[in-house]
Amino acid sequence: MENKVKLHDKTFKLFIPNEQIEKAIDAVAERLNQDYAQATDEDPVILLCTLNGAVIFAAELLKRVHFPLELKACKLSSYEGTQSTGVVKTEVPLPAHLEGKRVIIVEDIVDTGNTIVAMSQLLKERKVKDARVCTMLLKKEVYKKDVKLDYVAMEIPNRFIVGFGLDYDELGRNIKDIYVLDE
Ligand code: IMP
Ligand code: MG
Repeated sequence: MENKVKLHDKTFKLFIPNEQIEKAIDAVAERLNQDYAQATDEDPVILLCTLNGAVIFAAELLKRVHFPLELKACKLSSYEGTQSTGVVKTEVPLPAHLEGKRVIIVEDIVDTGNTIVAMSQLLKERKVKDARVCTMLLKKEVYKKDVKLDYVAMEIPNRFIVGFGLDYDELGRNIKDIYVLDE
């Protein structure tokens, strides 16, 4: 595990080691297993992975949850560089046939919440039975929206981070620990 990494023009320092991330995911998966124990093969839960940042988190959850589920993905984006643009674009639309389904939105990180608000709105329009949010990370000081965040694996301060799926201009997703911008 390197103490510092350089991506493009910026240096990042070690922030959350992999073992600590995995422990936090164990705890969240345990809660999901309890809350969704009643799901059946006829009515599986939809695990909706938000690309690209949540892929590793979603994979780690998949290894730990035991109820019947279908894995789906979609992609909304709001970030350029290290800043939220405030405008949420749909790059890969939501999957079909969500009506009446129970959905778990799997997010890498909730920051301003613009993405999660847009996602909840889209799911409402699709008439899902229930939509909950499961995010690996939450920037608690920044998030001021009303959408309930049902499952939060870790809370972090308002800092820009990379690794474990999260990127800085597309680099850094394949780092197994989380690093923070070194300012
Ligand atoms: P929001 O719409 O402001 O909540 O931002 C959510 C999205 O922005 C996340 O799903 C990430 O893709 C990206 N994002 C937010 N904070 C960070 C960060 O610290 N590092 C990398 N990406 C981030
Ligand atoms: Mg994301």
